[in-house]
Amino acid sequence: MTDQTTHSASYDTSLRRSDAIWQQIEKDPSGLRMLTGDRPTGALHIGHYFGSLRNRVRLQEAGVETWLIVADYQVITDREVIGDIKGSVRELLTDYLAVGIDPARSTIFTHSAVPALNQLLLPFLSLVTQPELERNPTVKAELQAAGRSAMGGLMLTYPVHQAADILFCHGNLVPVGRDQLPHIEQTRVIARRFNERYAGGEQVFAEPDALLSEAPTILGLDGGHKMSKSLGNTVMLRMSSDETAKKIKKAKTDSEREITFDPEGRPEVANLLTIAALASGSTPEAIAAEIGDAGSGTLKVRTAEALNEHLAPIRARRAELEQDPGYLFEVLRDGNERANEIAGATLARVREVMGMVY
Ligand code: TRP
Repeated sequence: MTDQTTHSASYDTSLRRSDAIWQQIEKDPSGLRMLTGDRPTGALHIGHYFGSLRNRVRLQEAGVETWLIVADYQVITDREVIGDIKGSVRELLTDYLAVGIDPARSTIFTHSAVPALNQLLLPFLSLVTQPELERNPTVKAELQAAGRSAMGGLMLTYPVHQAADILFCHGNLVPVGRDQLPHIEQTRVIARRFNERYAGGEQVFAEPDALLSEAPTILGLDGGHKMSKSLGNTVMLRMSSDETAKKIKKAKTDSEREITFDPEGRPEVANLLTIAALASGSTPEAIAAEIGDAGSGTLKVRTAEALNEHLAPIRARRAELEQDPGYLFEVLRDGNERANEIAGATLARVREVMGMVY
């Protein structure tokens, strides 16, 4: 089997498993601890929002214990310049809180402030092999996207670091996109091998599940591409309603007046319909039918209106947060403290089962 086929087989399994988990969450979320996060490389856009942030808020609201990692060491896997990392962390924190992550119920923390988490990387690295690491399709794709020929040591091993991100707090639910599935699989393998090899079969670490989002992927506004800040084809969450309307107005469409939802044949029109549907809780087909032969100008106006209405409360919270920049880092320090507590306890347990208590 090639990487591709194993990948899609595990995708199908993960989708089915995700459905079952969503049902469980609705019935009884106790015992579930979600851990997920982002690399702090700057502000987030509506693709991030509809694809993952909104899902996290939904899980938090459903009563799932929520841990969010700002993966600052992961920034330096595929680039040489770290840039304004503090500024990027601030942007990410602002986006998190603006969309509705509640620091009273969720723990937000960074890699660099939690030494015991990072130390777990050492025993975990002993549990994986070089060919295993080199096979990871997401790491391979990222190396290629970075335009590098030589794989950096951190790039090669960051999926193991990510296993530490998840396992240090005994996260058992990891909401992620499809590209992260190889990392979750790697985490499961590490948990299993740790228990077998170092803990005599005792369940020190449970194997976490990926939770895939049901939302369709949003494309860039220039058609075809993925939404990506560096391509300038996005609506950033921090944009004003005017900027948003302008961006949508400039989106690529086609000249056919009749608006139809045809993702294969008319990807640009379908993309706007998808955005409008996600923002308004309707379906792309229903919105297309309403617009009928009014053309893509009308589609753009409708999409911008739906999006602006949806984003209004998020913008209001952002404006409040911007009044008090110190507060964001207070939230982070608080989260780091909680993360350090649990990381210390986990590392102590790891040392104990490994016989490294002197
Ligand atoms: N690799 C993830 C991304 O690029 C970010 C991340 C870091 C993460 N650690 C994690 C996601 C742990 C889930 C769990 O989006």
